Amino acid sequence: MCQTATAVPHRAALRVLELAGRAPSAHNAQPWAWRVRPRSLELHLDPARTAASGIDAEAAERNAVVSCGAALHHLEVAAAALGWEARVLLLPEPGHPTLLARLGLVRRPPAPEAGARLDALLQRCTDRRRFTAWPVEPAALVDLAAVAAPYGATVLPVLDAVDHARLERLVLRAVEASARSGLDDGDHAVELWSSDGVLVLGDADDDRRAWLRSGRGLGALWLEATRAGLSVVPLSRVVELPETRQALRGEVLGRRLRPHLLLRIGWQAIGRSGVRLTSRLPVEELLLDD
Ligand SMILES: Cc1cc2nc3c(=O)[nH]c(=O)nc-3n(C[C@H](O)[C@H](O)[C@H](O)COP(=O)(O)O)c2cc1C
Repeated sequence: MCQTATAVPHRAALRVLELAGRAPSAHNAQPWAWRVRPRSLELHLDPARTAASGIDAEAAERNAVVSCGAALHHLEVAAAALGWEARVLLLPEPGHPTLLARLGLVRRPPAPEAGARLDALLQRCTDRRRFTAWPVEPAALVDLAAVAAPYGATVLPVLDAVDHARLERLVLRAVEASARSGLDDGDHAVELWSSDGVLVLGDADDDRRAWLRSGRGLGALWLEATRAGLSVVPLSRVVELPETRQALRGEVLGRRLRPHLLLRIGWQAIGRSGVRLTSRLPVEELLLDD
């Protein structure tokens, strides 16, 4: 793959990586690190920004790799808008598990949609203000799920009222359990309302490759939702605690999927313009030595 890739000027590579870093990540940990090689870019998991207090190591790693998958997706969007097609190889070296992806960039004129996707990347944020009760049409949830499919991600729209009610109870159970254990949710959203649209990201597998699929799908569907004016708010507590994760799998997913993340989808009363974007680490601090 990378043999045919074009050499990317260093400044262009940094701009692409800076834009990729606008991706969402659990607690804004930005658990990624980049290596810029003459003809390729590498995405690494940074173990120093992977751990999270109060949750088990596997849940923390899953959150981190899903976040890296979203950054990988955003890198592809940024590169496309700047005239590069990213050719992605996931987990290219089995003996090197923190090397999550290697990308070759090939010169390609931007497709008509590329600019609009980049605009969405620059506007996207986690807007935790309460949604209006205006319902999200089931077709809109199905469309968002379909946007993630080309990345191999499985996204389940929760359209059944009984399943929705079960999920609300599970989310509440997770919040109560984490409060009992003294876990700090910070400014993270933890509630699910009966009028919220819901998507579940999951996979038959529970490994880094599956988490990367979910993360890329998350990036794709979030940008599409942003373009449609819909808000996306992840809820991770319910999949971080083994007990509620297990119940979610058994009671709502019919044991078909291992849940990776729950997403609330809804309409906000007023536009996103008043919401401040969260800051990011300078890209130079996220570069690994060659
Ligand atoms: C895997 C993952 C889990 C997340 N879990 C939650 C959550 O439980 N509650 C919440 O409010 N936000 C959650 N977020 C959103 C992050 O907090 C948010 O992306 C980060 O703070 C950066 O802010 P931004 O999305 O506005 O750029 C999650 C994001 C990811 C990628």
